[in-house]
Amino acid sequence: MLTTSKELLLKARAGRYAIGAFNANNMEIVQAIVETAEEEKSPVIIQASQGAIKYAGLDAITAIVKNEAAKVSIPVVLHLDHGHDFEQNVKCLRSGFTSLMFDGSTFPLDENIRQTKRVVDMAHACGIPVEAELGQIGTLGTTDEPGVAIEKMKELMTKPEEAKEFTQKSGIDSLAIAVGTIHGCQEEIAKLDIPRIEKLRDITGLPLVLHGASGASDIEVKKAIGAGVCKINIDTRIRQAFTHAMRETLAKNPEEIDPRKVLGPAKLAVKEVVRGRMRAFGSSGKA
Ligand code: G3H
Ligand code: ZN
Repeated sequence: MLTTSKELLLKARAGRYAIGAFNANNMEIVQAIVETAEEEKSPVIIQASQGAIKYAGLDAITAIVKNEAAKVSIPVVLHLDHGHDFEQNVKCLRSGFTSLMFDGSTFPLDENIRQTKRVVDMAHACGIPVEAELGQIGTLGTTDEPGVAIEKMKELMTKPEEAKEFTQKSGIDSLAIAVGTIHGCQEEIAKLDIPRIEKLRDITGLPLVLHGASGASDIEVKKAIGAGVCKINIDTRIRQAFTHAMRETLAKNPEEIDPRKVLGPAKLAVKEVVRGRMRAFGSSGKA
């Protein structure tokens, strides 16, 4: 059942668990996420980035998610991840997305507020909630040493002193925070700034979103949920699992030419990642 994210996140915060927001860019990954959510009786957010939309096509990604969501009884949200412009947000809303994100984190505060508010006003007129980013989470480059890159990102963490103005003036529904994670990290090395998360929770009163969470261990994740995080984004772990499984199948059967025999095990590998995250986030059984 397709639904919006607003009530789900508020319920998660009250129940002290987090909803996994899993990135998808093809049919197998969407099916893996929705099937696992149904098996785990967990609410779930499927998110498509602008890159995923460029790859799969907006109509295709929307149709696949709507089709899978209609088969299950658990709540499924279709969310735009890191929408970098107003137009992309409008296109996703018109296409049927039930949750949006405007990421103006690289702009100065005033400009981030101005552009975010424009998206919020448009989305709220249609009853769709908006997430936005303050501070910068950053992305690991191919040559970066993960520990060093995370250390460098510390100066770009979300500043509590800017959070009140940003959230009040923009009118957003949830806040993506930079608190010690980085996108694209394949090792569990993130050390989260828990007091900063608590401050952001108290100052904003909003559901907080942890991006770059593939690099966070279960222990860090639990501490973050305890401090107010109720949406947790996972992309890299899914990519890793999907691609490793394909590589493994092809290494065992180099002559295989049937895509279903290669993609099938990859889908199963994604299901196990999603199941593990739902259990770590405490959302299993919460649908
Ligand atoms: O927006 C997407 C997530 O923040 C992805 O984070 O690269 O750690 O999986 P990840
Ligand atoms: Zn992210």
